[in-house]
Amino acid sequence: MSLPKVFITRPLPAAAIERIATRCAVTMNPEDARLPPAQVAEACREAEGLVASGTPVNLEVLEQARHLRVVSTVGVGFDNIDVPACTRRRILVTNTPGVVTEATADLSFALLMAVARRLVEADRYVREGRWHSWQWGNMWGTNPSGKTLGIMGLGRIGQAMARRARGFSMRIIYYSVDRPTPEQELGAQYVDRETLLREADFLSIHVPLAPDTHHLISATELNLMKPTAFLINTSRGKVVEEAALVEALRSKRIAGAGLDVFEFEPQIHPALLAMPNVVVTPHMGTATGETRLAMAMLAAENLLTALAGQRPPNLVNPEVWGK
Ligand code: 8YV
Repeated sequence: MSLPKVFITRPLPAAAIERIATRCAVTMNPEDARLPPAQVAEACREAEGLVASGTPVNLEVLEQARHLRVVSTVGVGFDNIDVPACTRRRILVTNTPGVVTEATADLSFALLMAVARRLVEADRYVREGRWHSWQWGNMWGTNPSGKTLGIMGLGRIGQAMARRARGFSMRIIYYSVDRPTPEQELGAQYVDRETLLREADFLSIHVPLAPDTHHLISATELNLMKPTAFLINTSRGKVVEEAALVEALRSKRIAGAGLDVFEFEPQIHPALLAMPNVVVTPHMGTATGETRLAMAMLAAENLLTALAGQRPPNLVNPEVWGK
């Protein structure tokens, strides 16, 4: 019996590729670059499995990938994948929740600290030779301790952010469509959306991108925030209307932002790049060796389980399974 064909859209850690290759005939894009959908489609003509990382899987791909049975995405977010179209074709879609949580929350908290203590600005100041003497009034920031962290979306990553904030003696409030049970253990208080926006000194976004979260943070929301508040976003760029954020920062409606994701990434609104109170990173929430390996191994397991005809552990569209 011939092995099922699998296409991998970017190089993954060798251990994950070897694992997949034990049971599949693997082809892989050797470049760590986003393939255009036409090329993914071409590569998937005969494939039963697709391992997608940072690559859109849209109708153009699905229409040609007639043999596809599973799309295993290497990441928790699946906004890059046309899930309804996969479901209609009875293609299983899987993701990698859990393993991304700690690294993403670490980066969110690092961005919070970076904007609070002006780390990037201070580093630049020293490197540019502008530090001539110690001064009482130089580089004043703000203390996270005693301040209010507002968490928008208390899923796994939002909860991990709350745990970090507890260690920094912050007050934690959150708004989430689901009210998770560990609320008390996290010391997080549920508030309505408006209270969250009004009271947060740091507003950290932890919702997935979906039609109802697109531009969740726009001018109306930014106008409710404190002029001393900072926005932190490691979720998806399109959750925040970037032009409105630029306007809020320009008019000092809010104090600053720490951003790992952007509405039209890798393009970033040029105004953000010119603002010293904005820290930007290149969508790297999960970019640690340990986390990327764990993501790749989990994506491999999801793929192999599905191709073996069993229900994969992290199934995004369970309705396909029932059909
Ligand atoms: C991935 C991510 O790097 O998990 C996610 O949703 O944003 C990142 O970990 C990205 O999805 C590309 O695969």
